[in-house]
Amino acid sequence: MVIGIPKETMPGESRVSATPETVSEMVKSGATVLVEKSAGKGAFLSDESYIAAGAVIVEDCEEIFEKSDVILKVKEPQYNAEKGCSEIDLMHSGQYLIAFLHPASPANHPMVKEMARKGIIGLTLDGIPRISRAQNMDALTSMSTCAGYKGILMAASMLPKFVPQIVCAAGFIRPSNVMVIGAGVAGLQAIATARRLGAVVYAADIRPEAAEQAKSLGARIVDTGVPSEIAVGEGGYAKPLPEEWMVKERDALKETISKMDIVFCSALVPSRLAPVLVTEEIVESMQPGSVIVDISIDQGGNCAITVPGEITNKHGVTILGIKNIPGILPVSSTWMFAKNVCNLFKYLTKDNQIVLDLNDEIVAGILTTYNGEIVHVGAREAMGI
Ligand code: NAI
Repeated sequence: MVIGIPKETMPGESRVSATPETVSEMVKSGATVLVEKSAGKGAFLSDESYIAAGAVIVEDCEEIFEKSDVILKVKEPQYNAEKGCSEIDLMHSGQYLIAFLHPASPANHPMVKEMARKGIIGLTLDGIPRISRAQNMDALTSMSTCAGYKGILMAASMLPKFVPQIVCAAGFIRPSNVMVIGAGVAGLQAIATARRLGAVVYAADIRPEAAEQAKSLGARIVDTGVPSEIAVGEGGYAKPLPEEWMVKERDALKETISKMDIVFCSALVPSRLAPVLVTEEIVESMQPGSVIVDISIDQGGNCAITVPGEITNKHGVTILGIKNIPGILPVSSTWMFAKNVCNLFKYLTKDNQIVLDLNDEIVAGILTTYNGEIVHVGAREAMGI
Protein backbone atom coordinates (compact mmCIF):
# COMPACT_ATOMS: atom_id res chain seq x y z
CA MET A 1 0.00 0.00 0.00
CA VAL A 2 1.28 3.48 -0.86
CA ILE A 3 0.45 6.30 1.55
CA GLY A 4 0.81 9.92 0.45
CA ILE A 5 1.55 12.86 2.75
CA PRO A 6 1.13 16.05 0.71
CA LYS A 7 2.17 19.45 2.02
CA GLU A 8 -0.88 21.34 3.31
CA THR A 9 -1.89 24.09 0.88
CA MET A 10 -4.32 26.20 2.94
CA PRO A 11 -2.70 29.61 3.56
CA GLY A 12 -1.25 29.76 7.08
CA GLU A 13 -1.57 26.00 7.69
CA SER A 14 1.60 24.79 9.38
CA ARG A 15 0.50 21.30 10.42
CA VAL A 16 1.24 18.11 8.51
CA SER A 17 -0.55 14.76 8.65
CA ALA A 18 2.43 12.54 9.57
CA THR A 19 5.57 12.82 11.69
CA PRO A 20 8.75 10.73 11.27
CA GLU A 21 7.46 8.69 14.24
CA THR A 22 4.17 7.78 12.52
CA VAL A 23 5.90 7.29 9.15
CA SER A 24 8.13 4.73 10.82
CA GLU A 25 5.07 2.89 12.20
CA MET A 26 3.38 2.83 8.79
CA VAL A 27 6.56 1.64 7.06
CA LYS A 28 6.92 -1.13 9.66
CA SER A 29 3.37 -2.25 8.86
CA GLY A 30 4.48 -2.80 5.25
CA ALA A 31 3.43 0.48 3.60
CA THR A 32 5.47 2.74 1.34
CA VAL A 33 5.17 6.35 2.50
CA LEU A 34 5.62 9.25 0.09
CA VAL A 35 6.13 12.65 1.74
CA GLU A 36 6.09 15.87 -0.26
CA LYS A 37 9.29 17.89 -0.01
CA SER A 38 9.16 20.41 2.88
CA ALA A 39 5.77 19.06 4.02
CA GLY A 40 6.92 19.12 7.66
CA LYS A 41 8.66 22.49 7.52
CA GLY A 42 5.87 24.39 9.32
CA ALA A 43 6.05 21.90 12.20
CA PHE A 44 9.87 21.99 12.26
CA LEU A 45 10.21 18.48 10.79
CA SER A 46 12.99 18.15 8.20
CA ASP A 47 12.95 16.05 5.04
CA GLU A 48 16.01 14.24 6.44
CA SER A 49 14.06 13.13 9.52
CA TYR A 50 11.34 11.64 7.30
CA ILE A 51 13.97 9.87 5.16
CA ALA A 52 15.55 8.43 8.31
CA ALA A 53 12.11 7.11 9.28
CA GLY A 54 11.81 5.28 5.96
CA ALA A 55 9.82 7.77 3.84
CA VAL A 56 10.49 8.67 0.22
CA ILE A 57 10.61 12.44 -0.35
CA VAL A 58 8.79 13.49 -3.51
CA GLU A 59 9.30 16.89 -5.12
CA ASP A 60 5.99 17.15 -6.96
CA CYS A 61 2.66 16.72 -5.14
CA GLU A 62 1.08 15.53 -8.41
CA GLU A 63 3.21 12.38 -8.16
CA ILE A 64 2.00 11.78 -4.60
CA PHE A 65 -1.67 12.11 -5.58
CA GLU A 66 -1.11 9.89 -8.60
CA LYS A 67 0.80 7.04 -6.92
CA SER A 68 -0.88 6.81 -3.49
CA ASP A 69 -3.64 4.43 -2.47
CA VAL A 70 -4.30 6.51 0.64
CA ILE A 71 -3.86 10.26 1.09
CA LEU A 72 -3.52 11.55 4.65
CA LYS A 73 -4.21 15.27 5.03
CA VAL A 74 -5.04 17.71 7.82
CA LYS A 75 -7.49 19.98 5.99
CA GLU A 76 -10.06 19.14 3.35
CA PRO A 77 -8.86 19.36 -0.30
CA GLN A 78 -8.04 22.92 -1.30
CA TYR A 79 -7.35 24.81 -4.48
CA ASN A 80 -3.65 24.33 -5.27
CA ALA A 81 -2.54 27.67 -6.71
CA GLU A 82 0.80 26.26 -7.91
CA LYS A 83 -0.95 23.56 -9.97
CA GLY A 84 -3.86 25.79 -10.95
CA CYS A 85 -6.43 23.17 -9.92
CA SER A 86 -8.15 21.66 -6.89
CA GLU A 87 -6.43 18.84 -5.03
CA ILE A 88 -9.47 16.69 -5.89
CA ASP A 89 -8.60 17.11 -9.58
CA LEU A 90 -5.29 15.39 -8.81
CA MET A 91 -7.01 12.41 -7.15
CA HIS A 92 -8.49 9.27 -8.70
CA SER A 93 -11.28 6.76 -8.29
CA GLY A 94 -10.86 4.21 -5.48
CA GLN A 95 -8.31 6.38 -3.65
CA TYR A 96 -8.83 6.87 0.09
CA LEU A 97 -8.69 10.36 1.62
CA ILE A 98 -8.48 10.74 5.40
CA ALA A 99 -8.72 14.36 6.63
CA PHE A 100 -10.96 16.87 8.43
CA LEU A 101 -13.56 17.12 5.65
CA HIS A 102 -16.35 18.87 7.63
CA PRO A 103 -18.82 17.45 5.08
CA ALA A 104 -21.94 18.95 6.70
CA SER A 105 -20.62 22.49 6.37
CA PRO A 106 -22.38 24.14 3.38
CA ALA A 107 -19.07 25.61 2.15
CA ASN A 108 -17.79 22.05 1.61
CA HIS A 109 -20.83 20.63 -0.18
CA PRO A 110 -19.48 21.18 -3.74
CA MET A 111 -16.20 19.51 -2.69
CA VAL A 112 -17.98 16.48 -1.17
CA LYS A 113 -20.16 16.11 -4.29
CA GLU A 114 -17.06 16.22 -6.48
CA MET A 115 -15.36 13.59 -4.32
CA ALA A 116 -18.35 11.27 -4.73
CA ARG A 117 -18.50 11.92 -8.47
CA LYS A 118 -14.82 11.01 -8.83
CA GLY A 119 -15.21 7.82 -6.77
CA ILE A 120 -12.88 8.97 -3.98
CA ILE A 121 -13.46 7.18 -0.65
CA GLY A 122 -13.58 10.04 1.84
CA LEU A 123 -13.18 9.44 5.57
CA THR A 124 -13.68 12.46 7.78
CA LEU A 125 -11.88 12.82 11.09
CA ASP A 126 -14.56 15.06 12.55
CA GLY A 127 -16.89 12.04 12.44
CA ILE A 128 -14.91 9.93 14.94
CA PRO A 129 -17.45 9.09 17.67
CA ARG A 130 -16.54 10.13 21.22
CA ILE A 131 -16.44 6.56 22.53
CA SER A 132 -13.63 5.09 24.60
CA ARG A 133 -12.29 2.68 21.96
CA ALA A 134 -11.99 5.56 19.46
CA GLN A 135 -10.27 7.89 21.92
CA ASN A 136 -6.77 7.42 20.48
CA MET A 137 -8.08 8.35 16.99
CA ASP A 138 -10.01 11.45 18.08
CA ALA A 139 -8.17 14.24 16.30
CA LEU A 140 -10.99 16.72 16.92
CA THR A 141 -10.55 16.33 20.68
CA SER A 142 -6.79 16.78 20.26
CA MET A 143 -7.31 20.00 18.32
CA SER A 144 -9.78 21.29 20.91
CA THR A 145 -7.16 20.66 23.59
CA CYS A 146 -4.74 22.82 21.58
CA ALA A 147 -7.37 25.55 21.13
CA GLY A 148 -8.21 25.61 24.84
CA TYR A 149 -4.59 26.01 25.85
CA LYS A 150 -3.35 28.39 23.17
CA GLY A 151 -6.57 30.43 23.14
CA ILE A 152 -6.10 31.33 26.81
CA LEU A 153 -2.42 32.15 26.29
CA MET A 154 -3.31 34.45 23.38
CA ALA A 155 -5.93 36.23 25.47
CA ALA A 156 -3.49 36.56 28.39
CA SER A 157 -0.84 38.12 26.16
CA MET A 158 -3.36 40.64 24.80
CA LEU A 159 -4.69 41.56 28.23
CA PRO A 160 -3.21 44.88 29.35
CA LYS A 161 -2.66 43.56 32.89
CA PHE A 162 -1.22 40.65 34.87
CA VAL A 163 -3.18 37.40 35.03
CA PRO A 164 -1.83 36.13 38.39
CA GLN A 165 -1.90 37.89 41.72
CA ILE A 166 1.28 39.96 42.00
CA VAL A 167 2.91 41.25 45.13
CA CYS A 168 5.38 43.92 44.09
CA ALA A 169 7.27 46.98 45.30
CA ALA A 170 4.16 49.10 44.62
CA GLY A 171 1.82 46.83 46.55
CA PHE A 172 -0.66 44.06 45.81
CA ILE A 173 -2.28 43.44 42.41
CA ARG A 174 -5.41 41.32 42.28
CA PRO A 175 -5.52 38.32 39.89
CA SER A 176 -7.54 38.58 36.67
CA ASN A 177 -10.96 37.00 36.27
CA VAL A 178 -11.53 34.48 33.48
CA MET A 179 -14.91 33.08 32.45
CA VAL A 180 -15.16 29.93 30.32
CA ILE A 181 -18.53 29.39 28.62
CA GLY A 182 -18.97 25.78 27.47
CA ALA A 183 -16.84 23.37 29.51
CA GLY A 184 -16.31 20.65 26.89
CA VAL A 185 -12.88 19.48 25.75
CA ALA A 186 -11.60 22.95 24.78
CA GLY A 187 -13.29 24.67 27.72
CA LEU A 188 -11.83 22.30 30.32
CA GLN A 189 -8.34 22.78 28.89
CA ALA A 190 -8.92 26.56 28.95
CA ILE A 191 -9.95 26.35 32.61
CA ALA A 192 -6.85 24.31 33.51
CA THR A 193 -4.57 26.72 31.61
CA ALA A 194 -6.12 29.84 33.13
CA ARG A 195 -5.81 28.30 36.60
CA ARG A 196 -2.12 27.51 35.96
CA LEU A 197 -1.62 31.17 35.00
CA GLY A 198 -3.08 32.15 38.35
CA ALA A 199 -6.45 33.56 37.26
CA VAL A 200 -9.66 33.35 39.23
CA VAL A 201 -11.72 31.14 36.91
CA TYR A 202 -15.48 30.97 36.45
CA ALA A 203 -17.27 28.49 34.19
CA ALA A 204 -20.75 27.81 32.84
CA ASP A 205 -22.19 24.86 30.97
CA ILE A 206 -25.75 23.67 30.56
CA ARG A 207 -24.72 20.03 31.15
CA PRO A 208 -24.45 19.35 34.92
CA GLU A 209 -21.71 16.75 34.23
CA ALA A 210 -19.56 19.35 32.43
CA ALA A 211 -20.11 21.87 35.23
CA GLU A 212 -19.02 19.21 37.72
CA GLN A 213 -15.80 18.57 35.75
CA ALA A 214 -15.12 22.33 35.56
CA LYS A 215 -15.59 22.55 39.32
CA SER A 216 -13.12 19.73 39.91
CA LEU A 217 -10.52 21.76 37.96
CA GLY A 218 -11.03 24.65 40.36
CA ALA A 219 -13.55 26.80 38.48
CA ARG A 220 -16.37 28.65 40.24
CA ILE A 221 -19.60 27.56 38.59
CA VAL A 222 -22.05 30.14 37.28
CA ASP A 223 -25.54 28.63 37.18
CA THR A 224 -27.07 28.95 33.70
CA GLY A 225 -30.54 28.36 35.16
CA VAL A 226 -31.30 25.78 32.44
CA PRO A 227 -32.83 22.55 33.83
CA SER A 228 -30.95 19.40 32.80
CA GLU A 229 -34.03 17.85 31.13
CA ILE A 230 -34.02 20.81 28.70
CA ALA A 231 -30.22 20.91 28.35
CA VAL A 232 -29.19 17.26 27.99
CA GLY A 233 -30.22 14.98 25.16
CA GLU A 234 -29.44 11.51 23.88
CA GLY A 235 -26.02 10.12 24.78
CA GLY A 236 -25.47 12.88 27.34
CA TYR A 237 -24.81 15.57 24.68
CA ALA A 238 -26.08 19.15 25.04
CA LYS A 239 -29.29 19.97 23.17
CA PRO A 240 -30.01 23.19 21.29
CA LEU A 241 -32.01 25.44 23.62
CA PRO A 242 -35.37 26.97 22.72
CA GLU A 243 -35.11 30.77 22.41
CA GLU A 244 -36.87 31.43 25.75
CA TRP A 245 -34.15 29.43 27.57
CA MET A 246 -31.41 31.16 25.60
CA VAL A 247 -32.81 34.49 26.87
CA LYS A 248 -32.81 33.15 30.45
CA GLU A 249 -29.27 31.82 30.12
CA ARG A 250 -27.94 35.13 28.75
CA ASP A 251 -29.62 36.87 31.69
CA ALA A 252 -28.04 34.43 34.14
CA LEU A 253 -24.52 34.94 32.72
CA LYS A 254 -24.44 38.66 31.91
CA GLU A 255 -23.57 40.04 35.34
CA THR A 256 -20.57 37.72 35.77
CA ILE A 257 -19.39 38.39 32.20
CA SER A 258 -19.41 42.15 32.82
CA LYS A 259 -16.83 41.67 35.60
CA MET A 260 -14.46 39.43 33.59
CA ASP A 261 -11.07 40.30 32.13
CA ILE A 262 -11.11 37.31 29.74
CA VAL A 263 -14.18 35.51 28.38
CA PHE A 264 -13.43 32.23 26.60
CA CYS A 265 -16.31 31.09 24.40
CA SER A 266 -16.41 27.38 23.57
CA ALA A 267 -20.10 26.43 23.80
CA LEU A 268 -21.38 24.18 21.06
CA VAL A 269 -24.05 21.62 20.32
CA PRO A 270 -22.59 19.16 17.76
CA SER A 271 -23.66 19.79 14.13
CA ARG A 272 -25.46 23.06 15.06
CA LEU A 273 -24.72 26.73 14.89
CA ALA A 274 -23.05 27.86 18.12
CA PRO A 275 -25.47 29.43 20.66
CA VAL A 276 -25.11 33.22 20.90
CA LEU A 277 -24.54 33.86 24.59
CA VAL A 278 -22.64 37.16 24.52
CA THR A 279 -24.68 39.89 22.84
CA GLU A 280 -23.29 43.28 21.75
CA GLU A 281 -25.00 44.80 24.80
CA ILE A 282 -23.12 42.38 27.08
CA VAL A 283 -19.83 43.27 25.33
CA GLU A 284 -20.60 46.96 25.98
CA SER A 285 -21.02 46.20 29.69
CA MET A 286 -17.48 44.74 29.94
CA GLN A 287 -14.43 46.65 31.19
CA PRO A 288 -12.40 48.37 28.45
CA GLY A 289 -9.23 46.35 27.84
CA SER A 290 -10.86 43.01 28.48
CA VAL A 291 -10.58 40.19 25.93
CA ILE A 292 -13.05 37.73 24.40
CA VAL A 293 -11.72 34.60 22.66
CA ASP A 294 -14.49 33.13 20.52
CA ILE A 295 -13.22 29.72 19.43
CA SER A 296 -16.68 28.58 18.30
CA ILE A 297 -16.37 30.94 15.35
CA ASP A 298 -16.39 28.15 12.73
CA GLN A 299 -19.97 27.47 13.84
CA GLY A 300 -20.89 31.18 13.89
CA GLY A 301 -19.44 32.06 17.32
CA ASN A 302 -20.84 32.46 20.85
CA CYS A 303 -20.40 36.24 20.70
CA ALA A 304 -22.75 38.14 18.39
CA ILE A 305 -20.08 40.57 17.11
CA THR A 306 -17.05 38.32 16.55
CA VAL A 307 -15.57 38.77 13.08
CA PRO A 308 -14.52 35.37 11.63
CA GLY A 309 -10.76 35.00 11.30
CA GLU A 310 -10.07 38.50 12.69
CA ILE A 311 -8.94 40.23 15.87
CA THR A 312 -11.10 43.32 16.36
CA ASN A 313 -11.73 45.89 19.08
CA LYS A 314 -15.31 46.87 19.82
CA HIS A 315 -16.53 48.95 22.77
CA GLY A 316 -12.94 48.81 24.08
CA VAL A 317 -13.01 44.99 24.17
CA THR A 318 -10.55 42.93 22.09
CA ILE A 319 -12.40 40.10 20.34
CA LEU A 320 -10.44 37.20 18.87
CA GLY A 321 -12.17 35.28 16.10
CA ILE A 322 -9.06 33.35 15.06
CA LYS A 323 -10.02 30.15 13.29
CA ASN A 324 -7.02 27.87 13.15
CA ILE A 325 -5.61 28.06 16.68
CA PRO A 326 -4.01 24.55 16.56
CA GLY A 327 -2.02 25.80 13.54
CA ILE A 328 -0.35 28.33 15.87
CA LEU A 329 0.89 25.42 17.99
CA PRO A 330 2.21 23.32 15.08
CA VAL A 331 4.67 21.05 16.88
CA SER A 332 2.20 19.81 19.48
CA SER A 333 -0.86 19.85 17.22
CA THR A 334 1.00 17.96 14.47
CA TRP A 335 2.27 15.37 16.94
CA MET A 336 -1.27 14.79 18.28
CA PHE A 337 -2.91 14.84 14.85
CA ALA A 338 -0.37 12.46 13.28
CA LYS A 339 -0.72 10.00 16.19
CA ASN A 340 -4.52 10.02 15.96
CA VAL A 341 -4.49 9.54 12.18
CA CYS A 342 -1.92 6.76 12.40
CA ASN A 343 -4.06 4.99 15.02
CA LEU A 344 -7.11 5.28 12.75
CA PHE A 345 -5.09 4.05 9.78
CA LYS A 346 -3.90 1.00 11.75
CA TYR A 347 -7.47 0.36 12.93
CA LEU A 348 -8.71 0.28 9.33
CA THR A 349 -5.84 -1.81 7.95
CA LYS A 350 -5.72 -5.60 7.71
CA ASP A 351 -2.77 -7.31 5.94
CA ASN A 352 -1.50 -4.04 4.44
CA GLN A 353 -4.96 -3.23 2.95
CA ILE A 354 -7.70 -0.88 4.11
CA VAL A 355 -10.78 -2.93 4.92
CA LEU A 356 -13.95 -1.01 5.76
CA ASP A 357 -16.46 -2.78 8.01
CA LEU A 358 -19.55 -0.73 7.21
CA ASN A 359 -21.32 -1.99 10.37
CA ASP A 360 -18.59 -0.65 12.64
CA GLU A 361 -19.59 2.46 14.61
CA ILE A 362 -16.28 4.23 13.93
CA VAL A 363 -16.35 3.52 10.18
CA ALA A 364 -20.02 4.55 10.00
CA GLY A 365 -19.20 7.84 11.72
CA ILE A 366 -16.34 8.83 9.41
CA LEU A 367 -17.35 7.41 6.02
CA THR A 368 -18.28 10.37 3.84
CA THR A 369 -18.18 9.29 0.21
CA TYR A 370 -18.28 5.66 -0.90
CA ASN A 371 -19.10 3.87 -4.16
CA GLY A 372 -19.79 7.22 -5.82
CA GLU A 373 -22.37 8.22 -3.17
CA ILE A 374 -22.42 10.72 -0.33
CA VAL A 375 -23.09 8.50 2.70
CA HIS A 376 -22.30 10.82 5.64
CA VAL A 377 -25.56 11.32 7.56
CA GLY A 378 -24.87 14.94 8.60
CA ALA A 379 -23.82 15.91 5.07
CA ARG A 380 -26.88 14.24 3.52
CA GLU A 381 -29.17 16.00 6.00
CA ALA A 382 -27.49 19.37 5.39
CA MET A 383 -27.76 18.86 1.59
CA GLY A 384 -31.40 17.81 1.84
CA ILE A 385 -30.69 14.36 0.33
P1 NAI B 1 -17.50 20.04 23.09
O1 NAI B 1 -18.71 19.50 22.40
O2 NAI B 1 -16.58 19.11 23.82
O3 NAI B 1 -17.93 21.17 24.13
C1 NAI B 1 -18.94 22.10 23.92
C2 NAI B 1 -19.58 22.37 25.27
O4 NAI B 1 -20.54 23.43 25.10
C3 NAI B 1 -20.35 21.17 25.83
O5 NAI B 1 -19.85 20.85 27.11
C4 NAI B 1 -21.80 21.65 25.86
O6 NAI B 1 -22.51 21.13 26.95
C5 NAI B 1 -21.60 23.15 25.98
N1 NAI B 1 -22.79 23.92 25.59
C6 NAI B 1 -23.65 23.70 24.56
N2 NAI B 1 -24.62 24.62 24.57
C7 NAI B 1 -24.37 25.45 25.62
C8 NAI B 1 -25.02 26.58 26.14
N3 NAI B 1 -26.15 27.06 25.61
N4 NAI B 1 -24.47 27.17 27.23
C9 NAI B 1 -23.34 26.70 27.80
N5 NAI B 1 -22.70 25.61 27.37
C10 NAI B 1 -23.21 25.01 26.28
O7 NAI B 1 -16.71 20.85 22.00
P2 NAI B 1 -15.14 21.20 22.00
O8 NAI B 1 -14.40 20.10 21.34
O9 NAI B 1 -14.73 21.67 23.33
O10 NAI B 1 -15.12 22.44 20.99
C11 NAI B 1 -15.68 23.68 21.37
C12 NAI B 1 -15.62 24.64 20.20
O11 NAI B 1 -14.26 24.92 19.86
C13 NAI B 1 -16.26 24.10 18.91
O12 NAI B 1 -17.03 25.14 18.35
C14 NAI B 1 -15.07 23.76 18.05
O13 NAI B 1 -15.36 23.81 16.67
C15 NAI B 1 -14.13 24.87 18.46
N6 NAI B 1 -12.72 24.69 18.10
C16 NAI B 1 -12.12 25.76 17.54
C17 NAI B 1 -10.80 25.73 17.18
C18 NAI B 1 -10.18 26.97 16.62
O14 NAI B 1 -9.03 26.91 16.19
N7 NAI B 1 -10.89 28.09 16.59
C19 NAI B 1 -10.01 24.50 17.33
C20 NAI B 1 -10.72 23.42 17.99
C21 NAI B 1 -12.05 23.53 18.36
